[in-house]
Amino acid sequence: MDQSREPANPERQARSEGKALAADFDHDPERFAANQLATQDFSMIGDVHDRVAERLAKFTAGPILDLGGGNGTLAKSLARQGRDAIVVDRADYVRGAPRPAVQADATRLPFRAECFAAVAALWMLYYLDNPGLALAEASRVLRPEGIFVACTSSRYNDPEFASVLPGSGEPFSFDAETAPEIISEHFKITEVIKWDTPAVRLPDEAAVALFLRGRGLCTEDASLQAARWNTPLSVTKRGCLIWACRP
Ligand SMILES: C[S@@+](CC[C@H](N)C(=O)[O-])C[C@H]1O[C@@H](n2cnc3c(N)ncnc32)[C@H](O)[C@@H]1O
Repeated sequence: MDQSREPANPERQARSEGKALAADFDHDPERFAANQLATQDFSMIGDVHDRVAERLAKFTAGPILDLGGGNGTLAKSLARQGRDAIVVDRADYVRGAPRPAVQADATRLPFRAECFAAVAALWMLYYLDNPGLALAEASRVLRPEGIFVACTSSRYNDPEFASVLPGSGEPFSFDAETAPEIISEHFKITEVIKWDTPAVRLPDEAAVALFLRGRGLCTEDASLQAARWNTPLSVTKRGCLIWACRP
């Protein structure tokens, strides 16, 4: 039999097909601001940051690195738990994150080996074509038995808006379908927490427009689309949070 014609393992195939999401944080910061505002105002379950901060504060002693930490949501949550974090992000707005904040790329970290007790990479590894490069760096700077935590969305997230969100249903470089396998190449996974639940309630047209803007539509398209939906509207969130440790 011609081995090259054997059907590929679907997981591996999906993984190799997955592309990075386009990072718009420097040229369209209002898009991420809309995303954060929509989560803050309309999520019924909140984001993961407070839960992650609570667990990191409880189970780690030592420096914490927030990789792709953006404007510092996790760092602020950790501060409320009495813990500091170093935020690393390649976008300009990292200058607005709580200090210390470093503008750098997750694939080339300006830190010596084994200096962190924990590394978080929340909602960020899908911006890399090869998330393994950042995971290898995270592993390098993490102490043995240090904690690693990451989260991501499913490629089938927000199914109610599948017809209007570009790329809906298509694999991306680090989605909930492939993330555990990708992480397990660098860390020992200790827990995968999955969700698939109506988690956002959009009360009116303005809320739908804000949500769609945050999910990548331009302001005009978000408003045009929002007028087509009946409100209030529940949106299903699908994704996972993965806890792991350095062997
Ligand atoms: C969706 S935001 C999440 C920010 C933050 N982790 C949070 O949960 O609020 C993704 C962040 O990853 C950053 N990012 C993407 N690729 C990166 C890379 N290669 N190195 C460092 N930061 C990166 C972006 O600049 C952006 O701030």
